[in-house]
Amino acid sequence: MQQVIELFKEAMGRLATGVTVVTSEVDGRPWGVTVSACCSISMDPPLLLISLFTKNASTEAIKEQQRFGVSILSKDQTKVAKAGAKPGTPKFFEEFTDFDHDGKTHMVKDALTHIHCKVDNVVAAGDHTIFIGLVEHVTIGEFTQPLLHFHRQFGIFTDELEQKETVVK
Ligand SMILES: Cc1cc2nc3c(=O)[nH]c(=O)nc-3n(C[C@H](O)[C@H](O)[C@H](O)COP(=O)(O)O)c2cc1C
Repeated sequence: MQQVIELFKEAMGRLATGVTVVTSEVDGRPWGVTVSACCSISMDPPLLLISLFTKNASTEAIKEQQRFGVSILSKDQTKVAKAGAKPGTPKFFEEFTDFDHDGKTHMVKDALTHIHCKVDNVVAAGDHTIFIGLVEHVTIGEFTQPLLHFHRQFGIFTDELEQKETVVK
């Protein structure tokens, strides 16, 4: 089993991902944890999934508060990503966050996008807890290069980006 786990880690390290910070509140203060296990799962209704290590302080906080934020990081935010991933240290995030436009969740300043969710469902899965969130608000930030993660390294998308028009009906 241990060998499969090690190979699984190596395999998943080869899946390049974007990088998000999941925000909540701990002791009434903004808290941020770096997360790559984030994806959209439905558009109507708009649902998003995040998977958090069950022993993370944020897992308890989100269960209690029934809401969370997801800030998608831009290329210049490696420092933020590292702060939200530092093992065994408090992740109070005042330095990096503001309230989102509705004052509902803490949003990482200058993030590509911030998504505010109400918890719709919670599923225990191995050593992680999956939160399915109903998207209630979205704040679109400046269009710029995303921060990426591949094989335990942060990096950037090197192709030139073309900004496609956002269609909001
Ligand atoms: C790029 C990246 C992606 C991560 N993705 C996740 C994730 O999806 N879920 C998770 O629980 N932890 C993820 N982590 C690890 C957490 O950020 C890290 O374990 C946590 O912040 C450690 O905090 P703690 O010691 O206070 O629990 C990721 C870390 C990095 C650097």
